[in-house]
Amino acid sequence: MDYFDYRENELWAEEIRVSDLARQFGTPLYVYSARTLRRHVNVFDEALAGLDHLTCFSVKANGNIHILRLLGSMGSGVDIVSGGELFRAIMAGIPPAKIVYSGVGKQDHEIREALAANILMFNVESVAELERISQIATEMGAVARISLRINPDVDPKTHPYISTGLKKNKFGLDMLEATGAYLMAKKLPAVSPIGMDCHIGSQLTQIDPFVETLEKLLAFIDRLKTSGIDIRYLDLGGGLGITYDEETPPQPADLGRVVAEAVRERGLTVILEPGRAIAGNAGILVTKVLYTKKTRAKNFIIVDAAMNDLVRPSLYGAYHHIGEVAPKKRKKLKVDVVGPICESSDFLAQDRLLPEVASGELLAIFSAGAYGFAMSSQYNARPRAAEVIVDAEQITLARRRETYGDLVALEG
Ligand code: LLP
Repeated sequence: MDYFDYRENELWAEEIRVSDLARQFGTPLYVYSARTLRRHVNVFDEALAGLDHLTCFSVKANGNIHILRLLGSMGSGVDIVSGGELFRAIMAGIPPAKIVYSGVGKQDHEIREALAANILMFNVESVAELERISQIATEMGAVARISLRINPDVDPKTHPYISTGLKKNKFGLDMLEATGAYLMAKKLPAVSPIGMDCHIGSQLTQIDPFVETLEKLLAFIDRLKTSGIDIRYLDLGGGLGITYDEETPPQPADLGRVVAEAVRERGLTVILEPGRAIAGNAGILVTKVLYTKKTRAKNFIIVDAAMNDLVRPSLYGAYHHIGEVAPKKRKKLKVDVVGPICESSDFLAQDRLLPEVASGELLAIFSAGAYGFAMSSQYNARPRAAEVIVDAEQITLARRRETYGDLVALEG
């Protein structure tokens, strides 16, 4: 559910016409809806209402500090995977006590920064990392609260590039290794093992993999208890899918129900790390048609956004719905929507039925709020797009459009 809709034959972002935003800020342009973001945060809170819980938005999905600030003001924490994301989170005023830190390759300086900030917890992904954290915490005279990230070997049934909980994936520890690591952690004076973590994949459209994971983790928590290890935080990661096309993913409330039933009366604090489910449908990418081109094989709509702005279609073959900003009744054609980049993988849609649009018209690429701007680049020396946040009638320029000067600013 989001607050982008068609009224008076035009696309609106809350109370603002998208065409006005494009006029004011140019294209390509990311437009986010604050109301949608708030709604999604509330939905997660309601889903876990009966439990001690913390929603830690996954910064990698959208790290804009205005967005982090908005989520933080509603009580959200964050899941980070780098020192840079820690920096963004702190800049946005997220309390360190609501920050969890995941990722297989934490560097010494990043561990030091997170310890200095006194974050809630490190989600540790290997024995080597555990040893490193212990060593650095000892040097700093600190105690690192940790979870171990468990790889439960559950198939999330999603795109292989975003599956993370299978034993062939690089993430986490299997339960056998984790048992040893927990026992080791218990003996390390600078480490306090208080949590268990997992994240099995992203864009999950079924509930079963979550249920299976939950069962495995709870049984593991029980086994650890007999070895004197008392797990107080259960972090189930992110991964809830959204509707890009016709998927019908489980809702946060469905996940909440399953979790509440399984976890009740265990005294655990439940952490979720949603990224896409909070930000995905809260953003669109607005682009302008530059040219249309018909070859003997295909029809192309060439737009001013490209794979550097939104890489998901090129990288995962992902579907993003595309609509006209000012719809007109016209014949539909099967087209490829492509950008100006010199690669055949530079497409935003392939073989899509779209009205016969003309150059100068605006298109909206939907569900672009997560892993859109966050994965953008300057490839082909294309300055990155601007980002705006609409909140009812209020517009905030959340990031100005990059300039040519920005392209070379770090090159001396
Ligand atoms: N927690 C951890 C440890 C993660 O690795 C991720 C995502 C999340 C939480 C958030 O997952 P979400 O709720 O957004 O599914 N670039 C890909 C998605 C990669 C996700 C990586 N990890 C895409 O555009 O589909």
